[in-house]
Amino acid sequence: MSSTRNKITVVGAGQVGTTVAQLAAYKNLGNVVLIDIVPGFPQGKALDLQESGCLQVFDSLITGTNDYKDTADSDIVVITAGLPRKPGMSREDLLATNAKIVRSVTEEIMKYSRNPIIIVVSNPLDAMVYLAKKVSGLGKDRIMGMAGVLDAARLRTFVALELGCSQTDVDAMVLGGHGDSMVPMPRYTTVSGIPITELMEPGVIDQLVDRTRKGGAEIVQLLKNGSAFMAPGASVVKMVEAILKDNRRILPCTAYLEGEYGWSSIFFGVPVQIGIHGIEKVIELKLTEAEQAALDTSAKEVKKTINEVDTLLDKN
Ligand code: APR
Repeated sequence: MSSTRNKITVVGAGQVGTTVAQLAAYKNLGNVVLIDIVPGFPQGKALDLQESGCLQVFDSLITGTNDYKDTADSDIVVITAGLPRKPGMSREDLLATNAKIVRSVTEEIMKYSRNPIIIVVSNPLDAMVYLAKKVSGLGKDRIMGMAGVLDAARLRTFVALELGCSQTDVDAMVLGGHGDSMVPMPRYTTVSGIPITELMEPGVIDQLVDRTRKGGAEIVQLLKNGSAFMAPGASVVKMVEAILKDNRRILPCTAYLEGEYGWSSIFFGVPVQIGIHGIEKVIELKLTEAEQAALDTSAKEVKKTINEVDTLLDKN
């Protein structure tokens, strides 16, 4: 029997994928399909999650599967399939392996869903979402990457820890690629509307900015085996919720640029407005010269990995 509930497919039933499924279910955002390449793995995770429904009070259906037919007519697809980093690895080290995975996953998804909204999480993020757009043929409003919400959440956390204030009062903006060259924006980071530049010394802000840039690596170093998943999962669900509830929230997301911020044919972290139609607007901020220069450096890094994706696609 078909359902009128939203259908959220999560590809990859690993750490990030399971967290996304769990939080989406807890928020009753829709039925969730968890798909993975490993037989039994998504089925086990899905059943375990379903059995928590009467305790966490949700009645969404959670399906675990290895068959893409079960993903048919998804409203939103979250792609988390791929390898995570090991200590010492950069996100770019994952490129060749994850490109193959993201390509095949996107092809399979598009066989069964005509016009889904896709959110890519697999790393290296900016290159993987570029690849998924090329393979899917989706419009730029319907495909995006999750990075800025997470990077901003890290900066918000570090600011709150430094000031000893509630992290719910801190807001932040992080632009650029999801790598070491990302551009945290102290000028647009506030505590209940007060810019942090009025609350902290410049040297302290520099340290927090640096920690944000290396926030993913810090977790990888501590875990030794795998990368962050709780804050990434929560960041994805914030985007999923904004889309399905048509909240029209303004969030930093990885979006396709056509001239904004001086860059084209590139996926890049910028503030966007998202709602039921996906990315409804890219918001262009007036940057200082130094901010634009930092953004250009980041864009050049992203272009490099995107060019590698183009080369890989040309070969096959
Ligand atoms: N199709 C479906 N699932 C796949 C495929 C595939 N072709 N290849 C791998 N997977 C699955 C794996 O079986 C595994 O269950 O993807 C899952 C990845 O889960 P984890 O190894 O736990 O990795 P995770 O921490 O969730 O990170 C996933 O997100 O943040 C990024 O860098 C991270 O690229 C990584 C991705």
